[in-house]
Amino acid sequence: NESIHGAWRNRWTFILAATGSAVGLGNIWKFPYITGEYGGGAFVLVYLMCIALVGIPVMMAEVAMGRRGRQSPINSMKALVSEAKAGPGWKLIGWMGALAGFLILSFYSVVAGWSLSYVLKLATGTFSEVDQALAGAEFEGLLGDPGTLMIWHTLFMILTVGVVIRGVNKGIESTISVLMPLLFVLLVVLIGYGASKGDIMSAVHFMFDADFSKLTKEAVLVALGHSFFTLSLGMGAIMAYGSYMPRNASISSTVFTVAGLDTLVALLAGLAIFPIVFANGLEPSAGPGLMFVTLPFTFGQMPGGQFFGALFFILVAFAAWSSAISLIEPATAWVVERFKISRAKACSIIGVIIWMLGIGSVLSFNDWSEFHLLPGKTIFDSFDFITANIMLPLGGLLIALFVGFGMKYHHAYNEMNMKNAGLFNLWYVVLRFLTPIAIAIVFINGLLPECSFDSELLNAETGECGNSTFLMPRFIGGVVLAIAYIAIIAMSLKKTSR
Ligand code: PHE
Ligand code: NA
Repeated sequence: NESIHGAWRNRWTFILAATGSAVGLGNIWKFPYITGEYGGGAFVLVYLMCIALVGIPVMMAEVAMGRRGRQSPINSMKALVSEAKAGPGWKLIGWMGALAGFLILSFYSVVAGWSLSYVLKLATGTFSEVDQALAGAEFEGLLGDPGTLMIWHTLFMILTVGVVIRGVNKGIESTISVLMPLLFVLLVVLIGYGASKGDIMSAVHFMFDADFSKLTKEAVLVALGHSFFTLSLGMGAIMAYGSYMPRNASISSTVFTVAGLDTLVALLAGLAIFPIVFANGLEPSAGPGLMFVTLPFTFGQMPGGQFFGALFFILVAFAAWSSAISLIEPATAWVVERFKISRAKACSIIGVIIWMLGIGSVLSFNDWSEFHLLPGKTIFDSFDFITANIMLPLGGLLIALFVGFGMKYHHAYNEMNMKNAGLFNLWYVVLRFLTPIAIAIVFINGLLPECSFDSELLNAETGECGNSTFLMPRFIGGVVLAIAYIAIIAMSLKKTSR
């Protein structure tokens, strides 16, 4: 009754592994920079709503599917589909997920490579007493140098494959349990440093004052997409990890723990980065370089910054590492099952393919910066956009619909194993209706051109979109729903845990 790939020793190792998967570059690098790009508070609020209304219910579903399927996501889907006598179309969840894993890891590894290179830069004192402009130039210099980028990208892929080859149990579990708390502490130290310079409040206002006039349709789509990306949802990573989960562990309480920790780390990262942005008159919308310019600059001015800076980027690289492992695991497990070859062979082959795909991202910042896959987007940006904002939400939508309508009710009920039937039904209803409708609305809305619903949204003078009076009622409704939902679950959680 166990997966052939192994099993977590207990419920805590599942939490650890899933947290390791969730907490990564998405929290520390991507969340702050997209929050900056999409204007702050309103974006953060929509993102938090997406976590509560979509991310958490889907995560519970995805873990349950993995635990019931007990194989790689592709084969778990096969098994679940035949158990439920459902249509073959559902198997798309497994295949599309594996493809998303390839695409995500190809650019994820390049960004993780930036972090690795910054460990060296910080440790050797590159940023001692540089000003903001020099910190920016340093980052530009790195991006302009494909050879160096390739070396770090290659190193990171080797590290990732190296762990997955030995099986997930031995490699990462113990390391993560030490390093994640350390990362946490370091973020708090950075926030303390930002606060001591007196600019924490402008960061708080930026992140939590919701100005809905800045909320474009694309912003809402990106917020939804990021809620999937950050929780590692919709592509099979969490399904694969769920397949190694013990039968008696409570899915709901573990999912709440993982989602809570992930959200906390993202908010902490924002509070560490934005005070520096505002203290130094930087642009919050600086893009992917935000963390790599602001933080080294701060470390350069901080006592002991050379040491703490290097340590910080080591921890970022570790967070990325434990996420990368979960990105490559679904495809690896499938190749092992399908071709009956060793894990080492399977993972190495996949690693090489992803490594090659990553070359497109390496070159996106220099030689191929003019080559656009999606309109106006380099390969790097296109892979990021297609996976996070389209493939993962689509995968999540299908997961919600499969557990809600494809699977038999009593199978879902048994797998969730909740003590409280009322609570199960609440989740079930949310998953069947609220979650899919929310995803569908954001999708349809996001694909329509800005301002197509209401011409009043168009500002005649600037030609820009955005009108708080139009968006406000929708979001107040959403917030009320979200709060009610969280409150109900929080109240009933005690009864169901363990
Ligand atoms: N959740 C990871 C992060 O936030 C990224 C990731 C996405 C990992 C999808 C696995 C699957 O960095
Ligand atoms: Na995350």
